[in-house]
Amino acid sequence: MATKGITTNLERTRVGKYDLGKTLGEGTFAKVKMARHIETGMNVAIKILDKEKILKHKMVEQIKREISTMKLVKHPYVVQLLEVMASRTKIYIVLEYVTGGELFDKIARQGRLSEDEARKYFQQLIDAVDYCHSRQVYHRDLKPENLLLDAKGNLKISDFGLSALPQQFREDGLLHTTCGTPNYVAPEVIMDKGYSGATADLWSCGVILYVLMAGYLPFEEPTIMALYKKIYRAQFSWPTWFSSGARKLISKILDPNPRTRITAAQIYKNDWFKKGYTPAKFDREADVSFDDVDAIFSGSTEHMVTEKKETRPVTMNAFELISMSQGLNLSSLFETKEVPEKEDTRFTSKKSAKEIISTIEEAAKPLGFNVQKKDYKMKLQGDKLGRKGHLSVSTEVFEVAPSLFMVELQKNSGDTLEYNHFYKNLSKGLKDIVWKADPAEGVEKK
Ligand code: ADE
Repeated sequence: MATKGITTNLERTRVGKYDLGKTLGEGTFAKVKMARHIETGMNVAIKILDKEKILKHKMVEQIKREISTMKLVKHPYVVQLLEVMASRTKIYIVLEYVTGGELFDKIARQGRLSEDEARKYFQQLIDAVDYCHSRQVYHRDLKPENLLLDAKGNLKISDFGLSALPQQFREDGLLHTTCGTPNYVAPEVIMDKGYSGATADLWSCGVILYVLMAGYLPFEEPTIMALYKKIYRAQFSWPTWFSSGARKLISKILDPNPRTRITAAQIYKNDWFKKGYTPAKFDREADVSFDDVDAIFSGSTEHMVTEKKETRPVTMNAFELISMSQGLNLSSLFETKEVPEKEDTRFTSKKSAKEIISTIEEAAKPLGFNVQKKDYKMKLQGDKLGRKGHLSVSTEVFEVAPSLFMVELQKNSGDTLEYNHFYKNLSKGLKDIVWKADPAEGVEKK
C-alpha cells in the first residue's frame, strides 16, 4: 500500500553541484553551510566569503596564495579543502565535512581528559602541525575551537592555511571570535616582533595540551595586560595530577624564548610523547590543479557558478517525518557518540504556527534575546557576549500536516554549552506546546 504523503514547501539553493543545507556557523563576514553533492551525495562544509570585501581589502593575491597552499595540504588530521568556486559576488571554499563536533565541547561536557587521551590528541596535533609546517603552511590561530573530531574520534584541524585572512574573514561564529582573548598566542606574537610561524604554532600546541589535561587554561587573567605579563614570563602552575613526564614536556614547549623552545623534531624524541605513538598513514598526494583558484578573481564567467534558489514542495511520508524528528530518531542508536548533539533540535507540536512562534518569542525575551521574525522563521540573537561571541539561534516552523507542525531549532553561532542552557530554558517555556519528544530529557510530554 502506498504511504500517504505530507506536503510542505522547502527552499533549496544550489551552487555548482552542491545543494546548500543548514548554516553551521555564521559571523559578520563569513558563513559556513553544510551542503551535499548532488551526484555523489557527499556531505561537505562550504565557507562562503564576500568577494567585494576581499577586493576592498586588497587581499586577492594573498587569498589566492593561501587557498593554493591549502590545496596542497592533505593529511588525515587536517580538514581537507576540496575545491573552490566563485560566483559574481561570492567565493565558496568547499571543505571536507567533519561530524564529531569540537574537541573543546567534549572537554566542556566531560571535563578534563585522562593523560592517555590527551596524549593521543596531542600526538595527532603535532603530526598534523609538523606536516603542514613541512609545506610552509602555518596556522597562527591554533586553539581548541579549531580542533574538530571526525566520526572515529580522530582530530581534524580546521582553517590551516587561512591565516592570511584578516580575522573578520576567518570568523564564522563557530570556530573563531574577533574579540577572544589571546590565551593560546605565543609571547613573541603578542610582542609583534616578527616571528616564525612554526615555533609560535608549537607554543599554542603546548597550551592546548595543558587545557586538555587540566580542563582549564594555563594563562588566564581578568585584564589583557595581566594576561600578557603571565604569557611573557610563561607563569603558570601545575595541577597536582600532571605526571612529571608531562610537566617536563610542557615546560619545554611553553618556553617564552622561541629560540630555545622545543622543536617538533625534538618533541618526537620525547619519552612522554612517544608512548603509543604511531604516525598517521596517508597516501602520497595526487596532482593538484589550481585552475579554480585562478578563476576566482579572473573576471571570466567561464568557471563561474550561480546561486540558484528554488522552492519546491516536498512530500514526506511518515517514515521520513519520523526520521527528521530527533525524539524518535533511531540513528542515534547506531552512532558511536555518547552525547547526542543538540545543536540542531526538532520537535513537533499540535498548536498553531502562530501560537508556536509567539510562545518561542515569549520564552526567548526574558533570556535577553533579540527576536527577528519573518514568516515562519525566527532569528534569536543573544545580547550577552559569550566565550564564542553572541549566541544566535534560528527557528523554523514547518507545517507537516493540517494540524501538525514541526519546529526546528538550530544554533548558528555561539557556545554549545550556552546553547544547551538556552534550550533547556526555552523548552520549559514550550512545555505546553510540545507534543512529542524532548531530546534533552528523553521521550516524554503530552
Ligand atoms: N564547521 C566549520 N567547518 C566545518 C567542517 N569542515 N565540518 C563540520 N562543521 C564545520
